[in-house]
Amino acid sequence: MLKISTFTIILLFIKITVHSQSIDQKVEDLLSRMTLEEKVGQMNQYNGFWKATGPVPEGGSDAKKKYDDLRAGKVGSMLSVRGVEDVFALQKIAVEETRLGIPLMFGFDVIHGYQTQSPIPLAEAASWDMEAIERSARLAAKEASAAGLTWAFAPMIDISRDARWGRVMEGGGEDPFLGSKIAAARVRGFQGKDLTDPSTIAACAKHFAGYGFAEAGKEYNTVDFGTSTLFNVSLPPFKAAVDAGVSSIMNAFNELNGVPATGDSWLQRDILKGDWGFEGVVLSDWASIRELVVHGYARDRAHAAEIAAKAGSDVDMESYAYVDHLVDLVKEGTVPIEVVEDAVRRVLKMKFKLGLFDDPYRYCSVEREQAVTGSNEIMEGVLEMAKKSIVLLKNEGNLLPLKKSGQKILLLGQLAESKNSPLGSWRLASIDHTAVSVLEGMQAYSDNELKYMQGPMAYKGQESFLQPIMVNESDKTGLKEAVTAAVDADVVVMVLGEHGFQSGEGRSITDLSLPGLQEEFLKAVYKANKNVILVLNNGRPLAIEWAAENIPAIVEAWQLGTQTGHAVASVLYGDYNPSGKLPMTFPRNVGQVPIYYNHKSTGRPFPQPIVFWSQYIDVPNSPLFPFGYGLSYTTFEYSELETKVSDDGVEVSINVTNTGSMEGEEIVQVYIRDKIASVTRPVKELKGFSKVSIRPGETVTLIFKLGRAELGFYNNQGKYVVESGAYDIMAGGNSRDVLSQEVSINWK
Ligand code: GLC
Repeated sequence: MLKISTFTIILLFIKITVHSQSIDQKVEDLLSRMTLEEKVGQMNQYNGFWKATGPVPEGGSDAKKKYDDLRAGKVGSMLSVRGVEDVFALQKIAVEETRLGIPLMFGFDVIHGYQTQSPIPLAEAASWDMEAIERSARLAAKEASAAGLTWAFAPMIDISRDARWGRVMEGGGEDPFLGSKIAAARVRGFQGKDLTDPSTIAACAKHFAGYGFAEAGKEYNTVDFGTSTLFNVSLPPFKAAVDAGVSSIMNAFNELNGVPATGDSWLQRDILKGDWGFEGVVLSDWASIRELVVHGYARDRAHAAEIAAKAGSDVDMESYAYVDHLVDLVKEGTVPIEVVEDAVRRVLKMKFKLGLFDDPYRYCSVEREQAVTGSNEIMEGVLEMAKKSIVLLKNEGNLLPLKKSGQKILLLGQLAESKNSPLGSWRLASIDHTAVSVLEGMQAYSDNELKYMQGPMAYKGQESFLQPIMVNESDKTGLKEAVTAAVDADVVVMVLGEHGFQSGEGRSITDLSLPGLQEEFLKAVYKANKNVILVLNNGRPLAIEWAAENIPAIVEAWQLGTQTGHAVASVLYGDYNPSGKLPMTFPRNVGQVPIYYNHKSTGRPFPQPIVFWSQYIDVPNSPLFPFGYGLSYTTFEYSELETKVSDDGVEVSINVTNTGSMEGEEIVQVYIRDKIASVTRPVKELKGFSKVSIRPGETVTLIFKLGRAELGFYNNQGKYVVESGAYDIMAGGNSRDVLSQEVSINWK
């Protein structure tokens, strides 16, 4: 037991107090010397003069204006300027040519890696491995900070239940409990323990709030849902990010219940900065302040600037609203100076915490950039993350794993050969065509007879972040030859699904089936050879009902980043036993969407001989694959669910046995149902999980303690309550196949 003397504790307290007071004092001192123009400048963020990730504002992206504003101290941070050379050049102007020399922060979308890509975040979520996810963010921070960046516009933590929305690839799936754990892990990964450490980077949890509930899954669409969904589903990951110390929050493009988030004072001031005590920076999304006019919520950009500033949006990304109007709004008394100074304090404090005032060039080392970018440590890290992200959905007759020799394997599909698609959608700093393809990964296992054929193209034309992918709907070139070749193969591996640019921002879709000719291709090959293994590449759940019913083996391989091929091959050949579980429900068809496990009972959930119950008459209510679902090359059996109630809650014990012949990892999940409550509660809610490795024949007992934090909910006043009564306590390997026990808790 480490004994710390009282003296040491007092000394430590004084040191911490002096240090934190010194930041506050430094901020006040600097603020007192700033002109109104310089204060407003800290609230202005410009995109890099030549690299855009959003619509160019009216009047054009005027590089000269931006340079002039930069020299006049009217810019506080930059977006999409990266690389030590460019960062250093702009930082030098800010530090050496402006009156007060206030350094810039440099932000970038480090969504799933910087130049080296880890799996898309939805894939990482499928690992349910918080240590791995934290480490993945840690490595991304190392590579991004080595490129001069100080601000990651991540993690994206929008809960979504709608696979039609393209940005589900960017988040942690449909569940607030899993999403909250992931949010905290990624914030810790990016920020480390000390933001002055040049290998760390400030995080930015986004998009606050409700963006993932865009109506009909249509991008940027209206969001309208009740208090219960807001407080119990959408907000918890943001609260977890704030509790984990996230430096900043980015607000959302959407309106929420009639108020655009960027102008929503209740969200940003009352809840985020008030109830939650958030002391960091609220950054607007790209031009979301200017878009208050387009929403019909502001008369013009000056009015938009007034609304957004008063609503707690501290920094304006690419609207030119603050830089062009806020000084006058303060001078005419429309916006109180206190509003501006609160925002500026937050920005300056963030810069002090990053150590930028001690050394504004601390992130600008060419040697470190060269040593860290694409390093073995990062390559190995993204490979490990990729393996953990793979989900085995089906393996009839143990077609998998493949034999390492003596098998004639035919590999089919344009995606199998792609070195670009696996990099995913948000990979702006990546070098195109640098991923290890599935083909290359399988070729590394050289003792088999491996033949590759593309078959009919899945997509054609340019592959661009800014334009939609052209799906091949008609050109069947290569289909016949592939089918002919399938006849002679022992096993056929088909990589089908979506190109990395078929999901992501601006890529909502209305059809979740395999795009283009791919299902026809799959059926034709299966007709020729029943031993088909489908490897899915996708950024969202897909409605693969025919495949799920007919294809013997299905591997969910998302877009796994730079090391895709090695990760997929190690799973297909059995060197890595897949352990992933779905973070989002897979529907039978798009008509079921939104479909999710933690749904409410309704008053008529039970099947009836007549039609009057909650159902569709053309498909079953059940999903294709449920939330939390994933198989292994071994099998696990759950038994002995036991519960022990106390004044603190309930202790849950469950036995898990490896009943197969291979060691494997199982993600054991614990769900509850609060059966009677003052606000109806879902039929299931994830409230605990643990990933455990179990040897063949071994039985492990896992204990979970569920207390007030797990057994309560937010009522319609947004207040967290815990109510006495009956709960179902459930445990299993997914959200459908669970053991269950009812307990009664009488909270004191
Ligand atoms: C985009 C995204 C946001 C991103 C920002 C800067 O439109 O909504 O997530 O961080 O613009 O690229």
